[in-house]
Amino acid sequence: MDRSYPLTESELRFKVLHRTAMERTMPILRQIAQLGQPVLREVAGKIADHADPAVQALIDDMLVTVADANGVGIAAPQVFEPLSLFIVASRPNVRYPFAPEMEPTAMINPELLWVSDEMEKGWEGCLSIPGLRGPVPRHRRIGVRYLTRSGELREEEYVDFLARVFQHEFDHLQGMVFVDRVESTRELVSEKEYLRLVAG
Ligand code: NI
Repeated sequence: MDRSYPLTESELRFKVLHRTAMERTMPILRQIAQLGQPVLREVAGKIADHADPAVQALIDDMLVTVADANGVGIAAPQVFEPLSLFIVASRPNVRYPFAPEMEPTAMINPELLWVSDEMEKGWEGCLSIPGLRGPVPRHRRIGVRYLTRSGELREEEYVDFLARVFQHEFDHLQGMVFVDRVESTRELVSEKEYLRLVAG
């Protein structure tokens, strides 16, 4: 078939989209879904193949997006992908001055294996709910299992802040956000007041 004539507009658009998905090598900053977007209330679906190039590209995008936003974690539904995947990327920054340092880790199809009876209330915020902080009761100690981005099945035990981040991100995969778990809306504070009163 002779294709010397110019491509139609829809053929061109297909070519551009196809290239974007299959050939891009640089991660891109993703838009973060804000509270009110239905995707934040969906239950995320399991990832069938961790090695899928689209999954690997999504992980790269989430890593740059969470770093850019000074987050300590981000879940795939927060970038409009209702998949069972999140990043835990705890490190001290302007939003979380006392966060412990760890290598940013992608957790695929994460599971909560067990939880301690002991609960602790601690301050949380969320990139999907900017400007708001609230104290959330969480299990102090948890056992988890997840698949790494290279396909290794890992079991870990987390305490305190890391346990909190995991439980917060795990909630996102069930369509829950931290404000669903505060004991009273009267305990919510603005981020500005939080940084002044609690962290300052
Ligand atoms: Ni969040």
